Amino acid sequence: MPDLPKCDYVPETYVGPSKEEVKHLRSEFLTPALVTYYRNPLMIVDGHMQYVFDETGKRYLDGFAGIVSVSVGHCHPRILEAINIQNSRLQHTTTIYLHPNIAKFAEKLASTLPDGLDVVYFTNSGSEANDLAILMARAYTKNFDVIALRNGYHGGSQGAMGLTAHSTWKFSVPHGFGVHHAVVPDRYRGHFGYDDPDAGEKFALDVKDIIQRGSSGEIAAFIAEPIQGVGGVIEMPMGYLKDAYKFVREAGGLCIADEVQTGFGRTGDAFWGFQNCEVIPDIVTMAKGIGNGCPLAAVVTTKEIANSLTEAIHFNTFGGNPVSCAQGLATLEVILEDDMQGNAKLLGTKLLEGLQALQSKYSSIGDIRGRGLMVGLELIADDDKTPATELTANVFETCKDMGLIIGKGGYFGNVLRIKPPMCITEADIVFILEVLDAALAEETT
Ligand SMILES: Cc1ncc(COP(=O)(O)O)c(C=O)c1O
Repeated sequence: MPDLPKCDYVPETYVGPSKEEVKHLRSEFLTPALVTYYRNPLMIVDGHMQYVFDETGKRYLDGFAGIVSVSVGHCHPRILEAINIQNSRLQHTTTIYLHPNIAKFAEKLASTLPDGLDVVYFTNSGSEANDLAILMARAYTKNFDVIALRNGYHGGSQGAMGLTAHSTWKFSVPHGFGVHHAVVPDRYRGHFGYDDPDAGEKFALDVKDIIQRGSSGEIAAFIAEPIQGVGGVIEMPMGYLKDAYKFVREAGGLCIADEVQTGFGRTGDAFWGFQNCEVIPDIVTMAKGIGNGCPLAAVVTTKEIANSLTEAIHFNTFGGNPVSCAQGLATLEVILEDDMQGNAKLLGTKLLEGLQALQSKYSSIGDIRGRGLMVGLELIADDDKTPATELTANVFETCKDMGLIIGKGGYFGNVLRIKPPMCITEADIVFILEVLDAALAEETT
């Protein structure tokens, strides 16, 4: 079994309720709608940078960063210091009073975006941010129709669920009025493959078709993740967003980049995922990694578009909370000062190279996708690309038993998602590759 890289941190002995007791309490008092990873769910009670610990003190490499949320490491000391100071002075106030944290954080956040994208509206979750972005787009354009992508995930509120396009995440209730879903530009399973240099432009024609033959011809917005996360790490091919944005703007619509997973340097090549696609959106939504794991999200747009929200009062009680903003600001400072983007690029390249070497060993690895530390591994059962859902579940379990936590995604649940905190080291990458190798060997023989 591969050895976890050395770590000096020793968690305090856990003295809380047993795992069985917590399971019982959950089943008695929490909604049955909650799902857990793993056949025997993990109980995580401690975290230190890229590692987490269960109640027995067993250590795991967190290759999924919570769910792509812990951007720079669990309980990062500089972030802890910032929130502890804020917690001891003032935990709550809202935007009806002035507070320096929200103002300083907004300024710093705007400095990471292209000129013009400089007005921030803080919310508590990615779903709320996406709801708000659609509201702004409709208020600004006075149009109604919205185009999102099939296989996309934008959240679970009623509005965001309408944008989301996986049947597994949608309920049969009225939602998503006016939302149309364009074909996902998936070069592995779609009509235009990796061998087609014009795949991006060809896929984008579906956006034009929806505008012309599926809407009033005038639309409010187009929303897409630069790399679909929950959908299984599907990267927008070059040329796709460029053309899609052009068609959308010709139809009066605004372009929204959902950077909830791709933002803050994770893709390595750029700070924002859209920058890898040679486009500049009108609205950017962000969450997860923005606060290294705290309930914080934001919508950033232009002054002109932001003005549309002054037509009526729009208020969010916890959006811009002083503690969340202290955490967001400290997180952003760590990301920038410690060059987390550079680390994501360097180690992401090593990870991708290592995975490619594994692909030549295991025919079950159908496709390897992603950039930086946002990587997916699609497992297949045969040459017809039949999704290897069971194999994926088994590899996923075996990795956990060996001390590696990763994510799982894609509509068929056959994509392993590797998205660790950006503070990981080369030794961690070696460990991830060794574990995947051992787990694939165990599960495919
Ligand atoms: C791309 C994307 N957008 C939006 C969301 C919704 O964020 P939240 O769960 O914070 O509402 C998610 C969550 O996984 C996401 O991955």
